[in-house]
Amino acid sequence: MPHGKPRLDEEALVAEFPSLDRKAQGAFFTPAPLVEEVLELAVRHAPAHRPLAVIDPSCGAGAFLAAAAARLPRASLHGLELHPQAADWCRRRVRKAQVLCGDGLRESFDALTATLPPGAFELWVGNPPYNGTSSVLRDPQTYARLVALLPEALPAGTSLRDDFAFFLLRVARRLEQRDGLLAFVTPATLIDAFMYAPLRKALLGRLELKEVLELGGGVFRGARVRTCVTVWRSLPPATPKRPLQLVPAGDDAPGTLYRTRAASGPFERHQPGDAIAFAPAAPDYLLRPPPPKAEALDARWRKDGEPLTTLIPISSPGLKTRFDELLVSDDPDVLFERVDAFLRAAPTEIEPFAIAHGIPARHLAKLETLKALVGTSLRAERQHVRPFYRYAGARHRGRIPESARAYCYLDRRLIPRGDHRFRGDYDPHACDIKLVFNVRELPLSAALLDRPGCVHDHRHARFAPLYVPRAILEGGLSAAKPGLDPSDLVPNLSRRGMAWAERLGGPRALYEALVRFINSEPVQAHWAPAYGAIRELPVTFEALKEASSGQR
Ligand SMILES: C[S@@+](CC[C@H](N)C(=O)[O-])C[C@H]1O[C@@H](n2cnc3c(N)ncnc32)[C@H](O)[C@@H]1O
Repeated sequence: MPHGKPRLDEEALVAEFPSLDRKAQGAFFTPAPLVEEVLELAVRHAPAHRPLAVIDPSCGAGAFLAAAAARLPRASLHGLELHPQAADWCRRRVRKAQVLCGDGLRESFDALTATLPPGAFELWVGNPPYNGTSSVLRDPQTYARLVALLPEALPAGTSLRDDFAFFLLRVARRLEQRDGLLAFVTPATLIDAFMYAPLRKALLGRLELKEVLELGGGVFRGARVRTCVTVWRSLPPATPKRPLQLVPAGDDAPGTLYRTRAASGPFERHQPGDAIAFAPAAPDYLLRPPPPKAEALDARWRKDGEPLTTLIPISSPGLKTRFDELLVSDDPDVLFERVDAFLRAAPTEIEPFAIAHGIPARHLAKLETLKALVGTSLRAERQHVRPFYRYAGARHRGRIPESARAYCYLDRRLIPRGDHRFRGDYDPHACDIKLVFNVRELPLSAALLDRPGCVHDHRHARFAPLYVPRAILEGGLSAAKPGLDPSDLVPNLSRRGMAWAERLGGPRALYEALVRFINSEPVQAHWAPAYGAIRELPVTFEALKEASSGQR
């Protein structure tokens, strides 16, 4: 054991705080070996002879502060924790630490920084909460204040939803004005997720990224999340704000060292633990060096190709009923009778309706909300019972199997928020042949549906009808106005796509080639692990032909 006292089992420790809502507060305490590793990575970038302050802004029961006390006995120690009992535990465990109880995303952050000795080199460490949807999303003022820490507005299709992102931004802002380091364990989505590109850009503009350690999944007992450690150093005071777009790809000595623990994947030629030097760069600011094969494929396909959703201009997200218990069934007659009974029921009769149809009580509230919305005058109609496929992403690669087939009741009045995917008079489900695919979500997969049916929304799954009304192809889905001629159909392809289709044997042959390409080895084994979460797949005619010749 490297430093002193016996290690506590941090995961077992969580059980000491029964009132701690682990999921909501992101309370997963960090195992001691990982804490040691984070400190090791961080301390190598700290100056040797300066007073040091170690700060954990969401310190839990004190895993980091306890290890810092043993390893850096002369440092002052500072913690902040939302949960009073955990904060108490931390105080008792690390006597010399100043531990406040409060919210690091609100005022208490300033209270925490007020405890720091002026002039100390600040070492911010920890494992901030990652709960998926921060409570600050429901607090517009705090959210606005935190998002304002980004230098630019968030681009369409991106959002910041996670507490760890806000903690990173707050500490980065502080280290803009003083000397210090930031070493956090966070979800590995920080490295490559599309939605965190603005966050990465903001951090890279303010700090210098020194270390990235990709940990893979399973670091925290009871959580499958993939995690990473990143270590950031403040820029020297005189450094001008960095023109990020100009970050050199290789001329300057790259300042970041990347390591991974995974022995497979894009870096399998490296031993886990080998360091690869790189410089994160525009446009995605990935915090991982691209494997050379993926980089070469991407460059070639981008030069000669078209992004998937340019090639196939019209696509919609899959159907999301929000009420599958009511609106989906394996049996069309059961489905019809259930919806009929629901529509006929009085608002006060929803509970007996749910019991009679085997719908669990936990769905009562949303059924009652729907009932209030639709009233009692609607009647079920057979025409709304439609074939439905329970699409399951990569499990249904290539072709959606018959076993995924079910029925849904597709009446837009019962499916709020446009999740039915109709646009004006246009029904995108109507075309029998559809390409089902996803973008910027791993694993990438594609399938062809060649029987009538709606497709279930699986993560970011989209579907593209093979034929669409001419007006929609020309004007986009917003051209779906009343009076649209549904019989004037054209292939759902760009000009280039049309030319390729002619050479391949028609639009359907092109869709089939796309399925093979998306599911092919070059995409799955090389391109997607490096870029699949952040870029749209570029498609070239040659790549389509290659994928088809390899798999026939
Ligand atoms: C992932 S745990 C990590 C705890 C400790 N740093 C460790 O590594 O063992 C996150 C901790 O943050 C606390 N927390 C959640 N939201 C917080 C907030 N807004 N301010 C301060 N602490 C918070 C949780 O109660 C939990 O103890």
